Amino acid sequence: MKILDQEVQGGSALSYAGLLEKIEILRSRLRWASKLDRPEIEKLLRQANGLRDEVMQLSHKERFVQAASSEGARIVQSPGERRRALLARSFVFEGTFGDNPRLLDALEVAEKAAPTDLPVLIDGESGTGKELMAKVIHANGSRADKPYISVNCGAIPENLLESELFGHKKGAFTGASNDRKGKFESAHRGTIFLDEIGELPLPGQVKLLRVLQSQEIQRVGADEAISVDARIVAATNKNLRKLCEEGSFREDLFYRLSVIHVSLPPLRERKDEIPLLFSYFCDEAAEALKRRPVKMTPRLRDFMLNYPYPGNIRELRNLIYRISCLAGESAGIEHLPEDIRPRPQTLSEAPAADGGAAAAAILANSNSAVSLSDAKRAASDEAERAFLERGLREVGGTVSELARRCDMNRSHLQMLLKKHGIHSKDFRHREAPPQEERRV
Ligand SMILES: Nc1ncnc2c1ncn2[C@@H]1O[C@H](COP(=O)(O)OP(=O)(O)OP(=O)(O)O)[C@@H](O)[C@H]1O
Ligand SMILES: [Mg+2]
Repeated sequence: MKILDQEVQGGSALSYAGLLEKIEILRSRLRWASKLDRPEIEKLLRQANGLRDEVMQLSHKERFVQAASSEGARIVQSPGERRRALLARSFVFEGTFGDNPRLLDALEVAEKAAPTDLPVLIDGESGTGKELMAKVIHANGSRADKPYISVNCGAIPENLLESELFGHKKGAFTGASNDRKGKFESAHRGTIFLDEIGELPLPGQVKLLRVLQSQEIQRVGADEAISVDARIVAATNKNLRKLCEEGSFREDLFYRLSVIHVSLPPLRERKDEIPLLFSYFCDEAAEALKRRPVKMTPRLRDFMLNYPYPGNIRELRNLIYRISCLAGESAGIEHLPEDIRPRPQTLSEAPAADGGAAAAAILANSNSAVSLSDAKRAASDEAERAFLERGLREVGGTVSELARRCDMNRSHLQMLLKKHGIHSKDFRHREAPPQEERRV
């Protein structure tokens, strides 16, 4: 890494000097020009655009160095600090939310990979954010202002694949009434996102491999080769290694595509992110639906915190949009789709005001957990939440008072409340009506 740092730093220092010189030449031409005709203006514009591209390349190289040199520091950083450090390095999140350590690992790999042209393979279950990650890589790279072209390899009929990817010449086959550019040509100088790469049939894999090796494509029906410079990001929800072993995916293509490998964990393995995602999507849905953010009953919240989300973040987001659309001020389990709604009377719908209801909630949640450690975590989360709610009720929603009574640090308590989505103001004593006041 050291040698790489030095090379990049040394290179950029020299190139900055070169760039300054070019800018000076451009400025003096403009300063001394008595009048400019159109071709001259176009030439100067081209030069200015070239300069802008070079500056972009260099600034991304600089960021690569910053990202690489942050490696040592991050070991002692908390997830919050790691996210803030990414922000401070001008990382573009593209709406990626959450600070689970495994997600941050993936974002930090993306940060380092983005300014390079190395191929990236993203894998993870459906709905874990693979396409979002591909956009993050594009947005943080030197090609950010160039095209981002997405191709779903699983959705193209086999007989159209070649033409879709590489284009065709007029008359190449029945129905080819015009010359047509393919996706690779459209992604020239930008990024091509090959989604569901595991679905690409073997003949398509051979052609793709050839393009990766030669960086040239040939339109169907054309003789001449066209050189293309497209950065490749591929994604799959399959285990490509396994497909290689089974013989349905070419091993040489797998290694070419996976120079950088980013794995996105399923949501059930990053459950700590769920409360944050709730508030993010509740706000997002409220804005989209022009309503106030929906509030969940404790029973719905318990369910949503412990549900295994086979459709991952996409499913969570869709559920929040659904309940935000269907519910009034407060959403309950009746707003869940029927196929995932828990059977009636497994939990008390009333807020866990007493120990009995809280215990029932704990039991029900830990019963629905998939493993012993999940059950333990669910029970401990639930006990923590019931404790905080009871405490806030007792002190009328005054966080500092609760912190004093429990001998806890106030900011730690605030963090726990945030984690559970508990708002202290919901526990403030309501003002008594005037008649009541008179009676007292
Ligand atoms: N960390 C995240 N923060 C916020 N939104 C996210 C996050 N991850 C995913 N999403 C959202 O979840 C939805 C699904 O994400 P995406 O389409 O990227 O998943 P995918 O892995 O490509 O799914 P599939 O395999 O089904 O194609 C999108 O609306 C995306 O914006
Ligand atoms: Mg996708």
